[in-house]
Amino acid sequence: MAEMVKLFVNGEEVEVEEGKNLIDAIGAVGIEIPHLCYHPALGADGNCRMCLVGIEEGRPPVVPACKTPAREGMRVQLDTDVIKKIQRDIMEFELINHPTDCPICDQAGECKLQDYYMEVDLQDSRMRVPQVQKSKNLDFGCGVVHDQERCVLCGRCVRFTRQITKTGELGIVNRTDTARVNIFPGRPLNNRYALNIVDICPVGAMTSKDFRFKQRVWFLKKDKGICHGCAKGCNIFIDHNREKYKDDIIYRFRARQNDLVNGYFICDQGRMSYKLENENRLTVTRIDGAEADFADGVQRIQQQLSMAQKPLLLVSPNSTLEQQWSVKRIATLFGATCSGYSDAYIKEGDGDDYLISDDKSANRKGLQLLEIDSDKESFEKALKGCDLLVSFDNDLFMFDKNSEFKALVESKKLLSISSHDNAMTKASLVALPVLSYSEYDGTIVNEDGVLQTFRKAVRKNEEAVDILEVTRMLGGAVRDKEQAWPGMRTTVNVLADIQSDQIPAEGLQLPESEEAHVSA
Ligand code: SF4
Ligand code: SF4
Ligand code: FES
Repeated sequence: MAEMVKLFVNGEEVEVEEGKNLIDAIGAVGIEIPHLCYHPALGADGNCRMCLVGIEEGRPPVVPACKTPAREGMRVQLDTDVIKKIQRDIMEFELINHPTDCPICDQAGECKLQDYYMEVDLQDSRMRVPQVQKSKNLDFGCGVVHDQERCVLCGRCVRFTRQITKTGELGIVNRTDTARVNIFPGRPLNNRYALNIVDICPVGAMTSKDFRFKQRVWFLKKDKGICHGCAKGCNIFIDHNREKYKDDIIYRFRARQNDLVNGYFICDQGRMSYKLENENRLTVTRIDGAEADFADGVQRIQQQLSMAQKPLLLVSPNSTLEQQWSVKRIATLFGATCSGYSDAYIKEGDGDDYLISDDKSANRKGLQLLEIDSDKESFEKALKGCDLLVSFDNDLFMFDKNSEFKALVESKKLLSISSHDNAMTKASLVALPVLSYSEYDGTIVNEDGVLQTFRKAVRKNEEAVDILEVTRMLGGAVRDKEQAWPGMRTTVNVLADIQSDQIPAEGLQLPESEEAHVSA
């Protein structure tokens, strides 16, 4: 536990963490010190001078907040004439050659230059000489587009490629008003995290080729979510919008800080996986390949389950704990085997030693906690012997289109409850649409044993239902997410003392030794 100290900001006493730099220490109590080059993941560079603050009776009296640790009794001044003049001067300096093309800039609305102009500057330009022209629309690779005219040379992007990805593709070349951020000739960005540069650039100098000109950011609803691109479970913002007469669409995922899981960054593949939430969705019920009513689809599944001698229910490693639990419960109800077999979600060798995992599912740990057997041999045995296979959003051919089980699966009577239209739904007698993870609430456990909750973000015009609702319609006792918890608590020791509504925002690290320990 960090030591706390009392200091004064503009004469008011605040309690902050000792030794943290003033930007972070004072920022933690809701007072922002303007800054451009400092980023908590990249450390202090001290090049922009936007963060200069006064220290009453300090030697020196003006210091960069990014490089000054908080100490007991410090008297920090943010509102003196000297500090305000420094901030205006820095802003004037930053804006001398800035194109001020906010109306066509993607960053408008979330740009530090715009914010600080409004907060501390508000002066007309005094420049009467032509602005220095620089290059625009430079394709830096990995979907990153650079505008040299908008750049304030804070160096965050350069430090990101040196300190975080350690690939060093970017540099600042030349000096004074000929200084530019650039790639080396013929050496574009080439790493799996490059799009984080777009997030950390404080202005609109680094933009995403994918997102450019698609939306004004103030129209976007920015909900918190968890990436389901792999077992890391990185925290994201789901930025979405329902335009007039259209459906609610996700326009981008952005990294959301969580020190327990992903720090400040996410991978590019996860970031771009927002498209999978928009595309190729199963939107209508199909029975024998023909469009049908949802209720008829449920009824047909119920009939088939009641008639089957040896049904096999397949749970998805992407489903929430609550969904997995409710499917396990109805498996008992229908005397079915319940399997979480999902080797198709594993891309051997694709992971790295930073965030990306080989396992492209979000909640395989959940299957382990709930003791849902995911073993290949037992699945194969159950599949061979079953007379009905019901998949709850488990795509057996996800990354394995030529699965050894394909012919066998297709020879079975197959029913699919699925968020997406895929080879499984196409081969199914009944295909029933359900919500995908950006559209429901739930709890998942990442590969490191961190239990995290997430909330519904997207609301489609024609909403499907959650898997939980389907299991309830099939006769299950679990009606909603909350009703799954008492049962899970009494069965899974490690969840015994957890109240689902009290899981901290950053998640809860489950004790390692007990993760898979299930009581009888
Ligand atoms: S491109 Fe953005 S992050 Fe990079 S130096 Fe310029 S302003 Fe800073
Ligand atoms: S590392 Fe995994 S969870 Fe994190 S953003 Fe990438 S795909 Fe998503
Ligand atoms: S943030 Fe301190 S000098 Fe740039």
